[in-house]
Amino acid sequence: MYTIETIRELRSYIKSARQAGKSIGYVATMGYLHEGHASLVQTARAESDVVVVSIFVNPLQFGPNEDYEDYPRDLKKDQQLLTDHGCDVLFAPSVTEMYPRPMATFVDLPQLSDKLCGLTRPTHFRGVATVVCKLLNIVQPDTAYFGQKDGQQVAVIRRMVNDLNLPVRIVSVPIVREADGLAKSSRNIYLTLEERPHAAILSRALKAAADAIVDGERSALVITEMMADAISTEPGVRLDYAEVVETSTLQKAQTIEGNLMLAVAAFIGKARLIDNIPIQVEGTHVELL
Ligand code: PAF
Repeated sequence: MYTIETIRELRSYIKSARQAGKSIGYVATMGYLHEGHASLVQTARAESDVVVVSIFVNPLQFGPNEDYEDYPRDLKKDQQLLTDHGCDVLFAPSVTEMYPRPMATFVDLPQLSDKLCGLTRPTHFRGVATVVCKLLNIVQPDTAYFGQKDGQQVAVIRRMVNDLNLPVRIVSVPIVREADGLAKSSRNIYLTLEERPHAAILSRALKAAADAIVDGERSALVITEMMADAISTEPGVRLDYAEVVETSTLQKAQTIEGNLMLAVAAFIGKARLIDNIPIQVEGTHVELL
């Protein structure tokens, strides 16, 4: 696997691959890779001739009091994981390579960014959409793979790609979970030994809500309250939100019908964790995606 740090070098690699008729699969990450990322790389590997992964902790998507400085980093370990999973090129630019001067251009999707995680992280999705737009323009992949764990991010990126006619196919890859259901996340490292068992309440609450839907519950309010009660009564856990939203618009659902996402977020100690289950409901037919 090559590690490339400059845009110029990456473009030249991509140009040669394209000239050789190769398809390019791309996974954007902020590093500190885990099995969730490995699953993105594996999916890209299975579907593409060349797999490019980027590691860039994007300062633009962190709020002033968030964990940009403390965000976990381990390039050596990441390089090993990527090599093991068949990545061809790691693109690891510096902040000055990506932002040689302050940005004057931003990609902003206010209707999708002011909900769910956007309420506690008001500038986050503008930072994500802007950097992902830049990265897609740099890598120019045929397909880009994103984790369903960040369900709102997937909705934002899909809509941006659509609105701006970016020539890339977006694929969301299912969440990878720990044995007790906790969604894999680089931020799980922030949980202390005492906090860790309580973190599984997010996935338990989602699973119980999904089971209730399979059993016939069709009120979004009842489902929302079920999830909120389960999370807010768990010791040491502070609920941020529990919602049922339409998958692509992220509008709150009134009834359980159509393409929906059960989405929750909670604070546990230093960590803010998110999780979701996408579901498709047509009358009595329910599919957990
Ligand atoms: O999901 C992430 O790790 C980041 O938000 C992304 C997509 C790499 C953009 O910085």
